[in-house]
Amino acid sequence: MDLSDDPQLGVWSTDRDCYLLLAESAGPEAHTLETGSGLSTVLLAAVGARHTCITPARVEADRVLAYCGEHGIDTTSLTFEIGCSDDVLPRLPGEQLFDVVFIDGNHGFPAPVIDWYYAGSRLRPGGLLVIDDVALAAVAHLCAFLDRDPRWTVQRRTEKWVAYRRVTAGDLRQDWYEQPFYRPPPQRGLSTLPARAMRRIRAGRRRTSGTSAAR
Ligand SMILES: C[S@@+](CC[C@H](N)C(=O)[O-])C[C@H]1O[C@@H](n2cnc3c(N)ncnc32)[C@H](O)[C@@H]1O
Repeated sequence: MDLSDDPQLGVWSTDRDCYLLLAESAGPEAHTLETGSGLSTVLLAAVGARHTCITPARVEADRVLAYCGEHGIDTTSLTFEIGCSDDVLPRLPGEQLFDVVFIDGNHGFPAPVIDWYYAGSRLRPGGLLVIDDVALAAVAHLCAFLDRDPRWTVQRRTEKWVAYRRVTAGDLRQDWYEQPFYRPPPQRGLSTLPARAMRRIRAGRRRTSGTSAAR
């Protein structure tokens, strides 16, 4: 995404039903955290959440603040951390646990995974993790993992976004033997070919080796 792009409304946006879930889940007492900024940032400020937004572009933060100013939205509980989430999240100040985490920043691999790893570890048990743009490859990989990971349960899913409820507490560090649910992606190779194609290849190999043996 080109940060100099001029998004609709002057700020970025996603689906209405995603915003409704965020608004329902984050009242005035809620602590919320998001990667990327846009209408979601405006919304979380408008519901009075104590909201932290990580975005690399000061100009985007300024756009959000201007939009809130024009629409009479109080931004005293809104904090911007300017920087890339992979830099900012591991050093995010304080011990605060969050009630809602919204991941919608850099969508290239492995950024959504990094966002999940650090922001998700600051989510309280029972807290909500919302992830946008699930059709994008890096996000789809993350969600394929989370769908199997017993530390998360799916709360809502659409073609555009998904919300998981966190079951556990603490950091998300695990070694491979703690993840028996995790499977390698399908191998690219002969074994992924349709059965008929495999039979033909095997038959061809038998013919070839038969010919060379007869020579
Ligand atoms: C699709 S927009 C977010 C839309 C917003 N969540 C909404 O629903 O209104 C993506 C955002 O991610 C930000 N972004 C891009 N790279 C980032 C990074 N490395 N860390 C954090 N945010 C990033 C962009 O500047 C932009 O604000």
